Amino acid sequence: MATIAAERLTFTRLPHPAPASADARAAVLANPGFGSHFTDHMIVIDWSEGRGWHDAVIAPRGPIALDPAAAVLHYAQEIFEGLKAYRQADGGIALFRPEANAARFNASATRLAMPRLPEDIFVEAVKQIVAADKDWFPPVEGGSLYLRPFMIATEAFLGVRPAKEYKFIIIASPAGNYFKSGAPAVSLWVSEYTRAAPGGTGAAKCGGNYAASLVPTAEAFARGHDQVLFLDAAEHKWIEELGGMNLFFVMADGSIVTPPLTGTILPGITRESLIALARDEGLTVREERYSLGQWRDDTTSGQLVETFACGTAAVVTPVGKVCGEDGEFTIGSGGPGQLTGKLKARLVAIQRGEAPDPHGWVMKL
Ligand code: PLP
Ligand code: COI
Repeated sequence: MATIAAERLTFTRLPHPAPASADARAAVLANPGFGSHFTDHMIVIDWSEGRGWHDAVIAPRGPIALDPAAAVLHYAQEIFEGLKAYRQADGGIALFRPEANAARFNASATRLAMPRLPEDIFVEAVKQIVAADKDWFPPVEGGSLYLRPFMIATEAFLGVRPAKEYKFIIIASPAGNYFKSGAPAVSLWVSEYTRAAPGGTGAAKCGGNYAASLVPTAEAFARGHDQVLFLDAAEHKWIEELGGMNLFFVMADGSIVTPPLTGTILPGITRESLIALARDEGLTVREERYSLGQWRDDTTSGQLVETFACGTAAVVTPVGKVCGEDGEFTIGSGGPGQLTGKLKARLVAIQRGEAPDPHGWVMKL
């Protein structure tokens, strides 16, 4: 497989015939929500066996032509990432840990038998779309530019084997809050379905994992909850993660527990960052298995005082209520907890350039 450094892959900017008008853009940016609006541009880089990565373009965002036999449409050979660009306190723009997304993208690529994209090209491509769409930052509280890099198998071939042609694409979407409800804390539905099993693709960020989570997610929504919670495949007992977020449990003694990375959950970059920030505060963080039953008991006894979910899209979101076939329980007051608020504020201040960045996570553009 050819490797190629970013400086040897030239990004060609294609002319845009009709970018959004300033008025149309302002209307979107005033109330962006999550995932429904898109910027003017996209990045596309092609890969084929023999040529490796080639033809990098910054193109007008629009439909892509795919052969109906493209492998992604049949065998779901697809991976993606999610990261954000933030407007800084000083008016500049910064990315948060894009190299971590590049590394996880390649881990996903390896698991899905796809070509690796050199990390410097991934980061350069992200920088290119942010520069092209720099007018798309929502000026609203918590606003950011959400970036969605992904890779699809484009080879027209119906035999079951890794494809020989791919496209890497990045689209961008102005983002506000992930949760529409705007509730101070979210409510979870404990699913009877399984998201991932040992040896499967749970640690990869591939579309197939999310496809399998849609029935349980629809069930959660139909019952009035915000997110689905998955337990482990073998015993249906141990807490894994939510449909699109990792989970943390805050104990009364100030220590924190989060499920370990055993290969069935996504190794969240927000998760890793919060573990570091909590340890900076002198808190004990244990990456260990925690069962649904223990969670309920600890909540009842007062041993557990807070639970929060985290992810790029969701940032840090308190969990207020947990419901399943066996009943429900409320965490703390059912609203945001103190430590949850403190860790969120620490993280957001670093991301927005309002606090020192001791771990070197912020990449100013
Ligand atoms: N778990 C799942 C299933 C996710 O989709 C996400 C979101 O990307 C996360 C966890 C959190 O990961 P990150 O913090 O890297 O966004
Ligand atoms: C993200 O947080 O970036 C994700 O990919 C989660 C997704 C479910 C919106």
